[in-house]
Amino acid sequence: MSWEDNVRKVVPYVPGEQPKDRSIIKLNTNECPYPPAPGVRKLIQEMKYEDFRLYPDTDATSLVSALSKYYKVPEDQIFIGVGSDDVLAMAYLTFFNSDKPVLFPDITYSFYDVWADMFGVNYETIPLDSEFRIRLEDYYGSKHPNGGVIIANPNAPVGIYEPVEALEKVVAENKESVVIIDEAYIDFGGESALPLIDKYDNVLIVQTFSKSRAMAGMRIGFAFGSKKLIQYLKDVKFSFNSYTMNMPSQELGVAAVEDDAYFKETCDKIIATRERVKKELSKLGFSFPDSMTNFIFAKHDTVSGNEIFEALKKEHIYVRHWNAERISDYLRISIGTDEEMDRLLSVLKNYLEKR
Ligand SMILES: Cc1ncc(COP(=O)(O)O)c(C=O)c1O
Repeated sequence: MSWEDNVRKVVPYVPGEQPKDRSIIKLNTNECPYPPAPGVRKLIQEMKYEDFRLYPDTDATSLVSALSKYYKVPEDQIFIGVGSDDVLAMAYLTFFNSDKPVLFPDITYSFYDVWADMFGVNYETIPLDSEFRIRLEDYYGSKHPNGGVIIANPNAPVGIYEPVEALEKVVAENKESVVIIDEAYIDFGGESALPLIDKYDNVLIVQTFSKSRAMAGMRIGFAFGSKKLIQYLKDVKFSFNSYTMNMPSQELGVAAVEDDAYFKETCDKIIATRERVKKELSKLGFSFPDSMTNFIFAKHDTVSGNEIFEALKKEHIYVRHWNAERISDYLRISIGTDEEMDRLLSVLKNYLEKR
């Protein structure tokens, strides 16, 4: 008998590479290519470092209040976490405790099964259809008794958005379990399912500052739900670690939310670049599901995903590639600045011509 017999052994999530070399064109983790709102910069310069000797506000009151005003949701229906990863992990701990399986798609955010394994949650994956769409009827409780559902909308890494009415059916058809809708990419053209929290007490809408608000480094995530649902989440969070979000993140998050014009301008720029890149990629022989996110999940007609991934890496352009069933020929390409995308397109063109 060794102490190792008592170790919780897990296969960890593998995040996209964060290279130290800043000259690399980084299109591999769906970060925002533009800086955070100017107010964030100003506030950092004005921050009183002496205050850091104190613990942060456990309730992130100022950030909750800013989100409450912006999204017009009562404060007691908002939960804050250290990135949406933290919010989602807490939600698993809080809501997914049934013997029945939690359901999510076979191709989706690759953290979902990692949390399930980590927390000992029974789960079942449901295959996306041949066009990579979520078969939403397969998540109805009557058809598939379950202990919860988690769906990313738009789904990652495929990028497809499902309309709110279709998701509402999943929520309505699962009165006995909690349905989590992970809206990490919702600001790039989709419509949030947020209004559903007024009609259903079993839905949790999760969003993040990491993509559309250009604050991945600050680790800010948040969720909306019924008062009851949010209180359960808070109880679990406070039983785990009461001081999760640090002081600067709380304050800088407020500055980001308060600049709506900058937020919208950033999202619009990314959407415009995405639509342009879609056209250019098609001309180069790529096909892809129609993306409503800040990335494109693309496959070349003749060249393998791995080969293009390596060729781009040699040219200091990082994209994401998974050696996994059904998707090994695809690359997930984050939308960068127009200059970065032009460089990507010219490298791809050269490579494909010379090959
Ligand atoms: C679908 C999805 N959900 C959640 C996250 C986590 O984001 P964060 O923890 O930075 O808020 C990501 C990150 O890439 C994601 O793709």
